[in-house]
Amino acid sequence: MREKIKALLSEIEQLKASGIDELEAARIKYLSKKGIISALMDDFRTVPAEQKREIGMQINELKQKAKEKLQLLGEQFDNKGSSYTETDLSRTAYPVPLGTRHPLSIVKEEINDIFKRLGFSIAEGPEVEDDWHVFSSLNFADDHPARDMQDTFFIQNDPQIVLRTHTSSVQTRVMEKTEPPIRIICPGRVYRNEAISYRAHCFFHQVEALYIDKDVSFADLKQALLFFAKEMFGEDTKIRLRPSYFPFTEPSAEMDISCNICGGKGCPFCKHTGWVEILGCGMVDPNVLDNCGIDSKVYSGYALGMGIERITNLKYQVKDLRMFSENDLRFLEQFRSAN
Ligand code: DAH
Repeated sequence: MREKIKALLSEIEQLKASGIDELEAARIKYLSKKGIISALMDDFRTVPAEQKREIGMQINELKQKAKEKLQLLGEQFDNKGSSYTETDLSRTAYPVPLGTRHPLSIVKEEINDIFKRLGFSIAEGPEVEDDWHVFSSLNFADDHPARDMQDTFFIQNDPQIVLRTHTSSVQTRVMEKTEPPIRIICPGRVYRNEAISYRAHCFFHQVEALYIDKDVSFADLKQALLFFAKEMFGEDTKIRLRPSYFPFTEPSAEMDISCNICGGKGCPFCKHTGWVEILGCGMVDPNVLDNCGIDSKVYSGYALGMGIERITNLKYQVKDLRMFSENDLRFLEQFRSAN
């Protein structure tokens, strides 16, 4: 009996099947009610009592090996027509509904893709940050209002540890560690201590872009902005830059695009101006470069930052910011076709 089991084991190990029919034949030969293994079980009755335990285990092992082998052979035929396909009888007969991607993810991916086409790669940083990366390294004076308790969430009353209020903190993290040229985009969640309403939330999302190299000029920034606006909102989109102020860029600007809802003619969304603001940008302040160990006499660069909710609103006209975090399926399922 032992010899027989041993011989069958090696036979099964070498088993091959070139088609479903051969596989089925093998199943009948070894595993069916009238198959070899069943017959062995019958013979088992005649095994002397003191050997029953050992032989019993060997037969079980043989049966298991045969099942596994046939299963494996069946997989090469994609289980089509194989009697080893496991059918889940509890599964609904109706089509299983697929989830949808969140509108903010859809837009984030779109922004990432556009910048990736310009050679940018993605960088990430922590949401719980220190004062240096969120403020000091970015040239915020000690008494800058953005550090105010009104705006910033502090961790455990420690004024040095904060929830980042913008993704600009990733800029400095990367600059500290990387030799130029640097060309990164940093998407992520940011936090501000704001009362929640239809137009403000205590957390939202931003994408930051940073390009540092020799001889980077404002013209490079403008070209990247125009490319982005056209890719995101359509070929006819126009941009305009208004002078602005950010501690970490000099000169700084805010960019408007021609209102993509009325095409620039004027509508309630653009407050009848024909323009909507979408991002802040500028040339990286030399102090910021020096703070991060990059020689500002050799290198220059531009940075820009935008709110993903804002861009999503422009694309899909979501009137209430709170919708983005309420997980209401009636809202989320409207983005099915945008996937
Ligand atoms: N960090 C700014 C904010 O949260 C946005 C921003 C403005 C980012 C100008 C930039 C920039 O990189 O150059 O409002």
